[in-house]
Formats: sequence, structure tokens, C-alpha cells
Amino acid sequence: MTGFDLIIRNGTVVTASDTMLCDVGIRNGKVVALADKLGTAAREIDATGLLIMPGGIDSHVHLAQPTSDGSVMADDFESGTRSAACGGNTTVIPFSLQERGTSLLKSVEEHHQRAKGKCYIDYALHAIITDPTPQALEKELPQVVQGGVTSVKIFMTYQDMALNDAEIFKVMEATRREDALTMVHAENFDAIQQMTERLERAGQTGPRGHAESRPIVVEREATHRAISFAELVDVPLFVVHVSGGDVIEQIEWAKRRGLPIYAETCPQYLTLTAEDLDNANMEGSKYVCSPPPRDKANQKACWDALARDVFSTFTSDHCPFIYGSDTGKKKAGADASFKYVPNGIPGVETRLPILFSKGVSEGRISLNQFVALSATNHAKVYGMYPQKGTIAIGSDADIAIWDPHKRVTISQSMLNHNCDYTPYEGMELKGYPVTVISNGEVVAENGRPVGSAGKGKFILRGKSSLVPSRHPFEA
Ligand code: URP
Ligand code: ZN
Ligand code: ZN
Ligand code: ZN
Repeated sequence: MTGFDLIIRNGTVVTASDTMLCDVGIRNGKVVALADKLGTAAREIDATGLLIMPGGIDSHVHLAQPTSDGSVMADDFESGTRSAACGGNTTVIPFSLQERGTSLLKSVEEHHQRAKGKCYIDYALHAIITDPTPQALEKELPQVVQGGVTSVKIFMTYQDMALNDAEIFKVMEATRREDALTMVHAENFDAIQQMTERLERAGQTGPRGHAESRPIVVEREATHRAISFAELVDVPLFVVHVSGGDVIEQIEWAKRRGLPIYAETCPQYLTLTAEDLDNANMEGSKYVCSPPPRDKANQKACWDALARDVFSTFTSDHCPFIYGSDTGKKKAGADASFKYVPNGIPGVETRLPILFSKGVSEGRISLNQFVALSATNHAKVYGMYPQKGTIAIGSDADIAIWDPHKRVTISQSMLNHNCDYTPYEGMELKGYPVTVISNGEVVAENGRPVGSAGKGKFILRGKSSLVPSRHPFEA
């Protein structure tokens, strides 16, 4: 076969299951050939000594999401997808947020408008439900799912967002009906509030109080409760951003019981600790996220769980707020009390380099596990496989070419997000994406964007592979 648009030659192709030396032929934005030696192409990339992997999918990011305290997220769809691309990603899944008292359907439509024409790479959407009215669950959710937004996240904490037990139950019944996947942020809101008041009475209002106010027991309890409701309602459940050993125990307990319970972890739980929130000058607020980073023992528990495939995916939970400005409120909030610091840290660009370096280069996980955790499992869990998440004939030509030997020291100055800091400043890495290809076109090279935003398109997702077929007689 001749006449490719692009051939990537002489590299090692790595998928979640296979590692092979071969050329990759691309035409019309799709992978159309994998062979020992391919003919000619309009453009060729020599990947000698490099790894050719599916472009990363970051299935947990927050971009241009409205907030209840008026703080403004640093990244919109343009800067967020630019940063993602430069860090080896070719798809992101941000969240639309239904605010209390508003329409679920409208919240999704509004997020579509924020994204449209702005993206460097492809994107899908999840829907957050904070107001599970009959209108939202019975009338609007079916339309949302029909529109390719096939996963719903609920919060068990955060003012104006936390659902009570009855509401959690109702959302699960609705996602069951619509064949959507339920995702949960599991922390006990009431317990955190009581802990916060106790810390305030003791005058402990600095950023470290954020971690003290939500120890892992509040995450463990909520995780157990969410798992129990999922068992009662008979739905699969995806637990987001698991931070340590006690919660991993709950996930494994559920799996041992044969329950369809799945989970992700994130770079912050592998590399940061609660002590990072202690920094002088309130800079500890740069590390405020929920759940908070724990300690070394919990970092190890997360690594061990990644190595033995307890976690399905590895995500960034990119949620950037500018530290040094009033819009970001990271510093201003901390000056008053930790409870006013917006929750979330940037990380969409550093997620994969951290996992590659600390995971693959340091021998904790295999290359194939890296691909599963960075791309393939995201595509399966969120209904985009095999269009996304692998390198196979017919798949979208979404590819990240990695130099496994490239040494990089993470610094704010090299990153392409719109945030004004990185929590990983100074971290030394081995292995970095050098060329990132989205739908057959190069979108990032050596950590910098190529071309302009706007070609990334919305991916209308199908049903999650985790959701069982309950309707065997349907077409
Ligand atoms: O602190 C965090 N994680 N902020 C982002 C929103 C969420 O909870 O995922
Ligand atoms: Zn969360
Ligand atoms: Zn999040
Ligand atoms: Zn059906």
C-alpha cells in the first residue's frame, strides 16, 4: 500500500498488550497500516530509539468550570488542551457542572460552547449532577447520554455540591436506567465541616489545616458508603482520585466481593505529602486539593496498587487556580482561612511524564501498564475504544512519540498551562514525549505546541465497558 499522509518509521510501538518494532502508516487521520517496512508518504518521522504509544487520555480534568466562590480557573479549553498536548495527551475529558437550581442539560450545552473551536486535541465531556431533580434525572439525563456524555459525576462533599444519601441513591437509579457510568468524589462533607470548625476554634487556619480537616478516614467512610449504595442499586461505580491505603482497601474489598467497583489515582498522591501544605508564606495553598496528599506510606500504597492493576486509570485531576492573583484566590483565600482556598492543582501536562519517569523508568510498572493507565483503559472505561486509546488499524491516529532517555527538570517556565505555578517544580524526570500527533497531525513537539487551536473535536462517547448489557434484546 502506498500514498500515506504520514509514516512513523523505525520506532517501537507499544500498546497495552504488545510491544513491536514496526512502521506506522497514517492516512486521513487514521492508522491504516502497521508493518515491518512501509512505502512512501508525504511526511515521515524517524522514531529510531523512540517509543510510539497511544496519545494519552486524561479522563479527569477541569477546564473553564464555573465555581461557587467566584474564583476563576486558570485554564480554558484552549490553554488546557494546549498544555495537555505538550504533555503527551491527545484527548481530555473535562466536566460540565450543573449548579444547584439550574438545568443539567443547559450546563452541558454551555460547556460545549466553551469548548467549541478552541481545542488543540479531541475532547469529550462528563456531566456533574449537583441538583438531581426529577426534571434533571428523568427528562434531561437521557438527552445528555444520547449526546455522548455517558458518565455522571457526583460529589459527597463541597458546599452547594454534596449530595445526601437519598440523592446519591436517586442518581444511581437514573444512571442505571440510562446505561451511564457513575463517578464519585468520596469524602464525608459533614465530618469535614465538623473537623474544620474544630481547627478554626484552635486557631489552625493555615493551609495545613486543609489536610487536617479531611484525614483519610473521611474518604474511606464515604468510599464505603458509595460502594454500598452501588451494590444496593446494582450499578458499577468509578471512584475518582483515591489518595491512599485505607481507600484502596475498600476498593479491593469490593472487588473481592465481585462488585463492579473501579478507581483512579493521580500524580499528587504518588509524589506530594501533607507536609507540602506547611510551606511558609502561605505557599502551602499551592498544594491544596481534595482529597489532600497524605504521607510516604500512602504514596507507596498507591504505587503498589498501580503495579497490581487495582487502579483502572491514572488521571491528573487538573484543576488550576492562579496562586498570585485575586481571580485565583489560592493566596488570598489562605490569608483568611484554608477553607477559602479553592480546591485543586494544575497537572495535565506533567501527569504522564511523572508516571513514565517514576513508574516505568524507575521500574515500578511496565511499559504496557503505562499505556493501559495513560490511555487504553480510559478509552474503554469511558466508551471511546478502539477509536481512541490504542494503535490499531482503523483507530484515530492519536500518537505520542516518547524519548525514554530524555531528561527534564519540571519547571513552571517550561509548561504551557495558564496557571502561575506547578506543584512539581524541580522534579527530575527521565523520559518525555517529543512528538504528539492528533488525528494524524503534529500538535506538539519537544514540549511546545505546533500550529493553532481549533482542530480538536468533540467525541460522542458510547457506553462504558464497565456498564453491563441489561437489554440483551435491543439492537
Ligand atoms: O481539589 C480538587 N480535586 N479539585 C477539583 C475538583 C474535584 O474535587 O475533583
Ligand atoms: Zn473531586
Ligand atoms: Zn476533579
Ligand atoms: Zn437499553
